[in-house]
Amino acid sequence: MSEALDFLLAARPEAMGAYFRFLREAGKHLDPKTRALISIITKVAAQTDDGFRQYIARGLQAGLSANEILDGLLMAFPALGLSRIIWAVDLLLAMDIPEFRLEAMNAQSGQWHRVATIADLPARGVRRLACDGRELFVTCRDLEFRVFDSRCPHQATNIPELALQGDRLVCPRHGWVFDLASGACVEKGDRPLHRFESRTEGGSLLAYW
Ligand code: FES
Repeated sequence: MSEALDFLLAARPEAMGAYFRFLREAGKHLDPKTRALISIITKVAAQTDDGFRQYIARGLQAGLSANEILDGLLMAFPALGLSRIIWAVDLLLAMDIPEFRLEAMNAQSGQWHRVATIADLPARGVRRLACDGRELFVTCRDLEFRVFDSRCPHQATNIPELALQGDRLVCPRHGWVFDLASGACVEKGDRPLHRFESRTEGGSLLAYW
């Protein structure tokens, strides 16, 4: 939530509480993907930069594909018009989200990717790696590995290596703090890092996306 909304919630709790209850109730029969898609379209209609980034991240986390998001924007053409759709696509390109690269959008389905040779990973600690167009944080603990997307679940910021503070990751954009043992958001925010399924095979660490 923005600082302005935090302020309004503290200054006018009843009015703002009613507003947030309304938003929750209004979408209660919709699944998370549909809710996120409608929110993305409303952010494009209002051309709210931060809100658009936030709901793109939330939609991807809810399981929306890049193609579904583009379909939603194009189907909303009668309401949005071409200029707002172009505004949204410009922002998506500036965000450089792996899911929206053409090769990823044209791929048929997910597959296993070789992330690293296990011998090159530390026995204990965190390593930031790039693999097949994605950037990742890999945590290693006694040959147990977890592979997290480097994209912040708040507004899809690509979190850099400099954001590492021991076992914690602090997103430089708004300060959400993540525990890399679990991926949980432990300060400021309310959503975890996206974790990819992973396994070891023949001395390599593989991840699926
Ligand atoms: S993008 Fe807002 S905290 Fe990461």
